[in-house]
Amino acid sequence: MSSNAIEIRGLRKTYRGSKGQPEKQALKGIDLDIPQGSVFGLLGPNGAGKSTLINILAGLVVKTAGQVTIWGFDQDVNPRQSRASIGVMPQELNLDAFFTPRAALDVQAGLYAVPKSQRRTDEILKLIGLEDKADAYARTLSGGMRRRLLLGKALVHAPHILVLDEPTAGVDIELRQMLWTNIRKLNDEGMTIILTTHYLEEAEEMCDEIAIINQGEVVARDSKTNLVNRIDAKTMVIHAEETVTTLPEAPGITVETRPDGAVALSYHAHQTSAEQVLAAVRDAGISIRDVKTEEADLEDVFLELTRS
Ligand SMILES: Nc1ncnc2c1ncn2[C@@H]1O[C@H](COP(=O)(O)OP(=O)(O)O)[C@@H](O)[C@H]1O
Ligand SMILES: [Mg+2]
Repeated sequence: MSSNAIEIRGLRKTYRGSKGQPEKQALKGIDLDIPQGSVFGLLGPNGAGKSTLINILAGLVVKTAGQVTIWGFDQDVNPRQSRASIGVMPQELNLDAFFTPRAALDVQAGLYAVPKSQRRTDEILKLIGLEDKADAYARTLSGGMRRRLLLGKALVHAPHILVLDEPTAGVDIELRQMLWTNIRKLNDEGMTIILTTHYLEEAEEMCDEIAIINQGEVVARDSKTNLVNRIDAKTMVIHAEETVTTLPEAPGITVETRPDGAVALSYHAHQTSAEQVLAAVRDAGISIRDVKTEEADLEDVFLELTRS
């Protein structure tokens, strides 16, 4: 087997139009490798195609064309093995109101043919912090508890790969922390994690590899560090000793005054050196009291790549 947990080639999905709606090309030929052991982020705005991609991996949506290999198993050739390799926490709550968490986990284990002796129901209840609620009906659980139960269900068959679709959209800070702690722990134990998010901060904090999806296409795929480095826009922010009357001027440098009186000089590091920027400042007769630099973050990369 290759070192990729998932390999996707030429993946397309066209949803048929209904009730006079035109058909929708949700995925337009995706090629993507997701390395084993990574925390991989699928980042993109609403409607980009993230859930469609995840649901195809999960076997919940039927692809229109292309090839998906999960843990070395072609989804079409070895559907059972490929499904057994992956656990998915869906974006939508889809719990049976009349099941208790314990029952929901048992039923899920049964669906995946996990033998009774190998079930880890209590361990999972503990991991998701629902030991106290193990025997309460799902309809009596809070929204946060239900989401935790969804995570538990995704784990019953001890998959190699855990996929989380917008795990923290609309959840409170406490639940978010709990999810992150669990995800890091599972990843430390060797599980490959794939998560979708439209929150840049989340991708920046959690993921080591990122694919940016926009309108059904992968527009960037790199390590987080490389993605951020790709944009070499920098800004030097100068606080002067005295009120600035003459603004610096130099080719390749964009100058603006900030509301607090600071002078912000934006430039591209591959074109202009910090020394050239400082020289322009000195030439304008400004004596520097304080200087800071601001670098691009993932948001800049994202905006640049998803600008349509
Ligand atoms: N069942 C469906 N039928 C028709 N169109 C759909 C269906 N599911 C999603 N879409 C459309 O496909 C596109 C991608 O949706 P989705 O995969 O949910 O994006 P994301 O998860 O990135 O927000 C959107 O334009 C959405 O409206
Ligand atoms: Mg979605």
